[in-house]
Amino acid sequence: MPGRVAGKVAIVSGGANGMGAAEAAMLAREGAKVCIMDVREDLAAPVVERIRDAGGEVIFVQGDVTSEDDWKRVIAETVEAFGKLTILVNNAGIGARLYDPESVEDWHHVMDVNMTSVFIGTKLAVKEMIKAGGGAIVNIASIASFIAEGGNPVYGASKSAVWNYTKQAAVLYAKNNIRVNSVHPGFMPRMIQRNNEVVDPSEIAFAEKLKWVPMGRIGTVDEIAYGVLFLASDEASYITGTELMIDGGFTAM
Ligand SMILES: NC(=O)c1ccc[n+]([C@@H]2O[C@H](COP(=O)([O-])OP(=O)(O)OC[C@H]3O[C@@H](n4cnc5c(N)ncnc54)[C@H](O)[C@@H]3O)[C@@H](O)[C@H]2O)c1
Repeated sequence: MPGRVAGKVAIVSGGANGMGAAEAAMLAREGAKVCIMDVREDLAAPVVERIRDAGGEVIFVQGDVTSEDDWKRVIAETVEAFGKLTILVNNAGIGARLYDPESVEDWHHVMDVNMTSVFIGTKLAVKEMIKAGGGAIVNIASIASFIAEGGNPVYGASKSAVWNYTKQAAVLYAKNNIRVNSVHPGFMPRMIQRNNEVVDPSEIAFAEKLKWVPMGRIGTVDEIAYGVLFLASDEASYITGTELMIDGGFTAM
């Protein structure tokens, strides 16, 4: 399939819902072969079907991003199916609003899912990218990497860590022809909450938040996916260690 990432092979973590599903679909539409890694097979199934119906090549491999063994299996199955790995989108993450801000256990859990996962996925993916001659890694952080929007300490700490880890990894792996960048979404359709319910964004009142967004609206999942597509593609061949804010101007205020 021709396209902006034709010939590339991508893993999108957390690709069964939200922005990850949009990123997987867009990479497939633009010619990449895509593996969706997620804990939620139920959510992944319709995403896989939609991508295939549109002519894309996609597989789903169930995996938890906090597990090194799961990452090894997901990467191995991707390489077995598609021959190599050249793009990793570390997208999986959890919002922390329903977690206890005073609980050490909850702190570690959020850090594991949002940050340690990025480290594990990156260091393992890099091995395959080196074999393939190079690659591109895109980490989904947040505007919360830079500001304390709403007061959510562990979420902000995890996303700040993803931002700095991205720069460190970019410097570390530049010699291997691997680029590493971060994307920072602003106010978006709300994430799956702790009880695993998927919240319908149309039911959510964003009025308060919108006062702070110069463009006056929340973002769409495709607006994030376009940023990921660009950074994953050869169009961004001299871009590494940088951050792309996609927030309607929020952090420019
Ligand atoms: N929605 C927002 O307002 C917003 C804003 C800024 C940044 N982000 C970040 O963007 C990314 C995607 O957010 P979203 O809103 O699309 O989230 P979402 O909740 O809609 O989807 C996240 C996906 O990740 C999967 N996932 C969760 N834990 C996992 C684990 N341990 N292993 C594997 N998969 C797991 C979920 O099953 C789900 O399919 C996250 O990193 C999030 O922190 C979200």
